[in-house]
Amino acid sequence: MTKRPTKLASGPTGELNPPPRLIMGPGPLNADPRVLRSMSLPLLGQFDPAFLSIMADTQAIYREIFETRNAQTFLIDGTARAGIEACLVSMIEPGDKVLVPVFGRFGHLLCEIAERAGGEVVTIETEWGRVFPPSEIEAAIKQHRPKLIAIVHGDTSTTLAQPLEAIGALCREHEVLLYADATASLGGSEIKTDAWHIDAMSSGLQKCLSGPPGVAPVTFNERVVRIARRRHHIEKGVAPAGYAAGPGPRVGSNYFDLGMLMDYWGEGHLNHHTESTSMVYAAHECGRILLQEGLGAAFARHALVSKALTAGLTAMGLKLFGEQAYKMPNVTGVMVPDGISGDSVRAMLLGDFGIEIGTSFGPLAGRVWRIGTMGYTARKENVLICLCALEAALLQHKLKLPAGAAVAAALGVFAEAA
Ligand SMILES: Cc1ncc(COP(=O)(O)O)c(C=O)c1O
Repeated sequence: MTKRPTKLASGPTGELNPPPRLIMGPGPLNADPRVLRSMSLPLLGQFDPAFLSIMADTQAIYREIFETRNAQTFLIDGTARAGIEACLVSMIEPGDKVLVPVFGRFGHLLCEIAERAGGEVVTIETEWGRVFPPSEIEAAIKQHRPKLIAIVHGDTSTTLAQPLEAIGALCREHEVLLYADATASLGGSEIKTDAWHIDAMSSGLQKCLSGPPGVAPVTFNERVVRIARRRHHIEKGVAPAGYAAGPGPRVGSNYFDLGMLMDYWGEGHLNHHTESTSMVYAAHECGRILLQEGLGAAFARHALVSKALTAGLTAMGLKLFGEQAYKMPNVTGVMVPDGISGDSVRAMLLGDFGIEIGTSFGPLAGRVWRIGTMGYTARKENVLICLCALEAALLQHKLKLPAGAAVAAALGVFAEAA
């Protein structure tokens, strides 16, 4: 196997020169060049009216993407888990009961964050590869009477998406708050924040939104605003004369206090952190690209690419992982064939073809590859290149397979759709 140099710079102060890659793992993926260009635009002061207007435009863009009328729709600085953390530390007061249905790695992350926020966390778990029927969630609500359900929408660790519409309706019926982690699904498949009764939701840029990691879009409704207001707090150094804090317990994090962030993103623009100017530009461009394509068209593109990729993988004789009825269109789990080293195939894809695909975690470690087709990367040519390379790598690993069948099957799917 020939090895490409991974770094051409000489010594720690040499010029950075990342090797070209086609990134088709669970995220991050290749960013749209338009987004990268937007990040090189001149910085503005964070209270410059020109910048405030970009912030307001960005909020409007993400309201459309989240399909919500929530005034409180903005960006949290940090990767996707910053958005999760901001929602959970602000919504959960110490001692609150939180129900987390876990169907993959990121459910466990929600538990950990909810526990750190002081929540009394109860879980229901299902084996990785399936999701919960609403009846199981309803039974758990009746048994545990939580204040909040925190759930992942699309869990990249298992490549499955939990349908949320029925869960939102159940939460309303039983007066439970609902938070959903849409890090991996926003922009790749339908999400209707308001119609599905999701009280708070967060995402990240680095998956279906075609951007780099570094900022987390969030949205939340009046039910969450009421909690934030009850816990309202202003830093001493910026508080106006006569200010009195809210009666609820102060949020345990300053950086992720949604009430303070509302004050910062709201009309008063009360000083908080220094906004990550270039990441706001990136989020704005990611959203603009998605809305220019149209949400429906973007969802259809992800679905078609998924259909072609899975047709190709199946034609190669590979088995897909998980209950396919709930498969996310933007990431595909593939069983590593018996007798093949998953890591060796991935190393060959990266070293010889410059293509990154993902491995998996926990019970799936070494057993499943994850191939991402998200945002800018969800395109016909990438599917075909990835299938060609995977076939070649598997043949080099002495797997018997019908050569040429994968690309033919994928081409057939694209031809049928054209
Ligand atoms: C569903 C889901 N939630 C949360 C995260 C955490 O995101 P980040 O690594 O950007 O903090 C990821 C990352 O892959 C994810 O797929």
